[in-house]
Amino acid sequence: MIIGVPKESYPGDRRVALVPAVLPTLTKAGFEVHVQTGAGIEAGYPDSQYADKGAKLIADRAAVFAADIVVQVLCYGSNDVTGKEDVPFFRRDQILIGFLRPFGSLDVVQEIARAGVTAFSVELMPRTTRAQSMDALSSMGTVCGYKAVLLAADSHPRIFPMLTTAAGTVTPARVFVIGAGVAGLQAIATARRLGAVISAYDLRPAAKEQVQSLGGRFVELPIEAKDAQDARGYATAQDEDFYRRQRELLGKAVQESDVVITAAVIPGKKSPVLVTEDMVKGMAPGSVIVDLAAERGGNCEISEAGKTVVKHGVTIIGAINVAAGVPYHASMMYARNITAFLTHLIKGQKLNLNPEDEIVRETLLTRGGEIVNARVREFFTLPALTS
Ligand SMILES: NC(=O)c1ccc[n+]([C@@H]2O[C@H](COP(=O)([O-])OP(=O)(O)OC[C@H]3O[C@@H](n4cnc5c(N)ncnc54)[C@H](O)[C@@H]3O)[C@@H](O)[C@H]2O)c1
Repeated sequence: MIIGVPKESYPGDRRVALVPAVLPTLTKAGFEVHVQTGAGIEAGYPDSQYADKGAKLIADRAAVFAADIVVQVLCYGSNDVTGKEDVPFFRRDQILIGFLRPFGSLDVVQEIARAGVTAFSVELMPRTTRAQSMDALSSMGTVCGYKAVLLAADSHPRIFPMLTTAAGTVTPARVFVIGAGVAGLQAIATARRLGAVISAYDLRPAAKEQVQSLGGRFVELPIEAKDAQDARGYATAQDEDFYRRQRELLGKAVQESDVVITAAVIPGKKSPVLVTEDMVKGMAPGSVIVDLAAERGGNCEISEAGKTVVKHGVTIIGAINVAAGVPYHASMMYARNITAFLTHLIKGQKLNLNPEDEIVRETLLTRGGEIVNARVREFFTLPALTS
């Protein structure tokens, strides 16, 4: 069975879906790997390393898509800029694996389905212990949280750690993280390593202990979210009244901070606005906000997706596709996740798409021309499939 690895085409994305180090595992499982020429170069993986591990390098993108299985980081769906150009290469019953943004545009997901591909969306991976090694969302969240702190530190006019020097003492930067999921927790850990003083908030009470274990102060707000967490561990959407109360209460913590990193998202929903323009006005000049939710509507009222803007003296980074900014390790982690998933799908050198298996069932998005994922069908209010 052949796995094709096209070069990522989203502008500025330097990641690659498979790195040379995972090829021996795949070869042993019975796969042959075809890599588009130059696919890994920008992430730090030259063609020669793929060739050394037994991959075939192919210059023609269409020929890479002739594989039985195509793995990408950003497939059409999540790649809303150039992804559409790959659709003519899709072949019926071919397997496609990657980020597909299953709760994005119904038209796009239907277009993918109509192409006849059997598409697996890595965003839909269950957050279970069994699926942990395949959890690309967590891998990218980790990289993203790390990079967000570096972006903030790079833009901030102050030094992060406390320094005692002959020229006097420098006080540490105060970093406030809103949304302590995978990305937020990694941001806390990274900012702490840089010596900042950390506080953090999340509406899920379970996050408190995690924040504290990383050396952060958990900001308690005197409001309680209704059923803060769903069965999958994700935050549930709250009503506008709740968000309004949150904003009123978060104001003080935001204004006392030099850096605010926002990473509060709800799967499939527009992100809640938690930092208003008025709060930004109250921040000290030179402060920095990194809005990791910018792509999904933004946690900061005045962030602009994909842009860095300075408003009221505050630098607001509307960061998108942040994990792509650390392509070597983002690719390595992603490749390991995908390899674990591929070897999970294989039984005796044959593909085994067992619908009884939770990992297969939950991640399978399209098959035989249809959207087959129950969660996605429900989200788009499509009638449930009978068989
Ligand atoms: N294998 C596993 O068991 C596993 C792996 C990864 C994540 N998880 C869990 O999955 C859950 C989701 O993690 P994620 O990083 O994908 O989250 P996410 O990216 O969906 O959301 C980021 C964070 O934003 C928070 N948030 C949402 N709305 C908010 C608001 N109004 N105010 C403050 N915070 C708000 C969420 O609670 C979450 O912690 C977490 O409970 C995490 O611990 C489990």
